[in-house]
Amino acid sequence: AASDPDLVERARAAKAALGDRVFILGHHYQRDEVIEFADVTGDSFKLARDAAARPEAEFIVFCGVHFMAESADILTGSAQQVILPDLAAGCSMADMATAEQVAECWDVLTDAGIADVTVPVSYMNSSADIKAFTGKHGGTICTSSNAQRALEWAYEQGEKVLFLPDQHLGRNTAVRDMGLSLDDCVLYNPHKPNGGLTTEQLRNAKIILWRGHCSVHGRFSVDSVNDVRARIPGVNVLVHPECKHEVVSAADMVGSTEYIIKALDAAEPGSKWAIGTELNLVRRLAKAHPDKEVVFLDRAVCFCSTMNRIDLPHLVWTLESLVEGRVPNVITVDAETEKYAKAALDRMLALP
Ligand code: 13P
Ligand code: SF4
Repeated sequence: AASDPDLVERARAAKAALGDRVFILGHHYQRDEVIEFADVTGDSFKLARDAAARPEAEFIVFCGVHFMAESADILTGSAQQVILPDLAAGCSMADMATAEQVAECWDVLTDAGIADVTVPVSYMNSSADIKAFTGKHGGTICTSSNAQRALEWAYEQGEKVLFLPDQHLGRNTAVRDMGLSLDDCVLYNPHKPNGGLTTEQLRNAKIILWRGHCSVHGRFSVDSVNDVRARIPGVNVLVHPECKHEVVSAADMVGSTEYIIKALDAAEPGSKWAIGTELNLVRRLAKAHPDKEVVFLDRAVCFCSTMNRIDLPHLVWTLESLVEGRVPNVITVDAETEKYAKAALDRMLALP
């Protein structure tokens, strides 16, 4: 639906009034009405890198989810304030790994005698606490666009990897890109004693996958792939690595949101694409490529409900508050957590 013209005008006016004092970042899963006002759009890696690009801006308005705003706070100076337009914009995957559960897991690995040779690799989609745990234990953060390089780095440091919190990105990267077998992977369930694993299983594993997943990407199935191939002969199936392993195996191409956008830019006119990622992005791609057939991989509608919480009314409220001298919804990470989380994030940013 078209945005309310009054709100569009208010957003424009408030942004103009703030000028260089505000820097607006927008993740690719954001609504069109929000993306329109973003100074920079990107996947989570690009946004982490770009967050520090405007040190002169007092306010960084992060149109994305909580863990992204935390990361931006960690990676920017203390003079800059990071604002999340709706504090309820969390991520169900990030919530699947708490600091207590991960500390308990590390105790389990220690008891099994493997903590010394295990390197934690945590997906960007995790809380600052989990990133700090990762940094403290010599690990790195990764995103969906550099997970392979992160795992290659990790296996140079140790024998095993503890991959948090997305089992699918971990498994897909290990098996597709690193040549590990499914038998080299074990699934650690934080709700079961010992993660639901025997000491022998832990000792034999090359990668210990945390039992977390994205509920949005978890909805795509092999049936969705077969169905679209039957409906659209010659279709290229392109999915995000947060999809289940069997979906990724059935697809033609796999990559982060930034990769998906570039693949469509490079595609031949007349080519056909079924995209398995969040719907705001797929709809925007379909609109941007009228010369190609671009469809959503599933028949059901699937937005990321927390990404969608940031809408034009929340953006207008945020910008107008700043104009009036109030700074709402500031995301801050405490100094101790920040120190270790930054070490893990810096390691990611330094990956070749
Ligand atoms: P990317 O932006 O790295 O593609 O990740 C997608 C995602 O789920 C972000 O929440
Ligand atoms: Fe989290 Fe999935 Fe939404 Fe990304 S798409 S923010 S992983 S729930």
